[in-house]
Amino acid sequence: MNETSKPVVELRDVRLRFDSKEVLEGVTLSVPPQARLVVLGQSGSGKSTLLRLIMGLLKPSGGEVTFNNLKVSRMGRLRLNRMRRKIGMVYQYSALISSLNVRDNLALPLEELTTKSRSEIDRLVDEKLALVGMSDARDKMPAELSGGMRKRIGLARGIIMDPELILYDEPTAGLDPVISAVIDELIISLSEKIGATSIVVTHEMGSAFKVATHMAMLYKGRIIADDTPEAFKASTDPVVAQFIAGDTQGPILQSSQS
Ligand SMILES: Nc1ncnc2c1ncn2[C@@H]1O[C@H](COP(=O)(O)OP(=O)(O)OP(=O)(O)O)[C@@H](O)[C@H]1O
Ligand SMILES: [Mg+2]
Repeated sequence: MNETSKPVVELRDVRLRFDSKEVLEGVTLSVPPQARLVVLGQSGSGKSTLLRLIMGLLKPSGGEVTFNNLKVSRMGRLRLNRMRRKIGMVYQYSALISSLNVRDNLALPLEELTTKSRSEIDRLVDEKLALVGMSDARDKMPAELSGGMRKRIGLARGIIMDPELILYDEPTAGLDPVISAVIDELIISLSEKIGATSIVVTHEMGSAFKVATHMAMLYKGRIIADDTPEAFKASTDPVVAQFIAGDTQGPILQSSQS
């Protein structure tokens, strides 16, 4: 990865265990500014866990996570909140509040975390809705939206605070190919428009190769490959090659999934 610019996110030998199960066994990863890092890995390999560690929602059992060179695990509540204002999280199932309309769902972080006026908040909500092509949905309730629309609203909410870093957890899982392509293009254009750094967790290979400037693969608790998308495509590592091709034959065994 680019060595000249300071990484936005760095993980150094990060370990994480849940009870007796060691999910991460020494993850080292560095995300340069404005990269779109796609993290690949089997179901249960710890991808969502990785995002939660970066947000400071989980503490590593060992190693270090840093955001802009600050150690996330050393932050108290106040500094964690300050950091989280700079990070947008786009959840797999959109996680919209069902009792609030689209406008209020998007306005919530601005109302809770900033002192902006109502008219300024409205302006920012409208701006973000326009970015994801959902201006018409402003007054709708989440239940009135399709899955793809909800996903786009989730995306708009993830970027409402103009984050420096956007974390996407399976942004296209379960969507039709056209909506998936729309989301992929949004991820690219958002990172370019607001200059954000992105980490995208996915196991949809089409999306992965479209979106990625960098790729990393999590396998058995470690990053076994960390390279350009081109290098991933040409990889002779049997695990990487099997995952990318979606082959049933290879070192990735059914028994290693959880
Ligand atoms: N809070 C928790 N308590 C105990 N175990 C957990 C917890 N969160 C995750 N795990 C375990 O850690 C492992 C990794 O989970 P994680 O959700 O990070 O996987 P993932 O790679 O995101 O999978 P998927 O692709 O299915 O979303 C799984 O075995 C899971 O059961
Ligand atoms: Mg997950």
